[in-house]
Amino acid sequence: MAKNKEETVLITKDGIRHDGRKREDLREISFEVGVLDRADGSCLIEWGRNKILAAVYGPRELHPKHMQMPSQAYIRCEYRMATFSVPDRKRPAPNRREKEISKLLGEALDPALFTYLYPRSVIDVFIEVLQADGGTRCAAITAASLALADAGIPMRDLVSGVAAGNLSGKVVLDLDDIEDKEGEGDLPIAYLPNLEKVVLLQSDGIFTPDQYKEALDMLVPACKKVYQLQRKAITDKYSQINDAVQKDIDAEAKAKPAKDKKKADESKAKDDKKDKKKADDGKKSKADKEDKKKKGLKKPSKKKDDKKQASKEKEAKKD
Ligand code: CDP
Repeated sequence: MAKNKEETVLITKDGIRHDGRKREDLREISFEVGVLDRADGSCLIEWGRNKILAAVYGPRELHPKHMQMPSQAYIRCEYRMATFSVPDRKRPAPNRREKEISKLLGEALDPALFTYLYPRSVIDVFIEVLQADGGTRCAAITAASLALADAGIPMRDLVSGVAAGNLSGKVVLDLDDIEDKEGEGDLPIAYLPNLEKVVLLQSDGIFTPDQYKEALDMLVPACKKVYQLQRKAITDKYSQINDAVQKDIDAEAKAKPAKDKKKADESKAKDDKKDKKKADDGKKSKADKEDKKKKGLKKPSKKKDDKKQASKEKEAKKD
């Protein structure tokens, strides 16, 4: 449970936060891409104590048909929190907050995708928050964009999200649950780092115009930092695949000379066997011929002698 405001010093005069971070520090972020076998693309993100799974299915034909868009794909996003993801058990039925986050995440992902390539289709993005600790919508969109890339869906850019907050008048980055609940404001954004385009911007609580500007000035470089981690996660995955394929190619190339030699030896042995058989057959037929010849000299044909004898008797009778 969150402590009372009186008990928690969210930020010291020196700008050190309750968990030891400085104002612009992000929590530790790690990604695992392609964690689900049955999804077309997936990503598990661990951002501080947040644990969020994103899975992508599609593009595939959209049903019901009346929801189909003739000139583009529909990005259908579903953000859910597991009942065990928060300190107080969350009711399993989707609540208003989840519906709102689902809608805005889908809208924020849309500009990153070439949706016109898949008219009448749907790209489903499922987000399951397994453990929540503040900033889940930013972590969710960051993971979802990696899951889309993992699914091989053509993209203009990745989407990176970070939130800024207002703690006792000081602008900070990446609020955790306590800071989110006890701070004065929360300003999450999602950003296309290469196109330099903000695709999601929400604001909850109090920010002066200066604080608002300061927050945006801190958020853009922070999103670019997150983007570098995303890029590394996806390139690491594909370089692993590349390495595995290269290993197979090398092993095959190594095995080829030995394979060829074995093949050549086998065909030589076959030829030798054939030659030997031919020679044996030749010898045998020669021996048979000689044998027959010998037999022919020793024994004149009995049939011939009988015929001669019969004709002699016939002539004698005539006489
Ligand atoms: O998560 P995010 O900051 O994007 O959204 P939020 O609506 O500002 O929620 C802030 C935090 O409140 C979440 O990250 C959760 O840690 C927590 N929360 C909760 O404890 N119980 C809920 N039913 C919803 C949110």
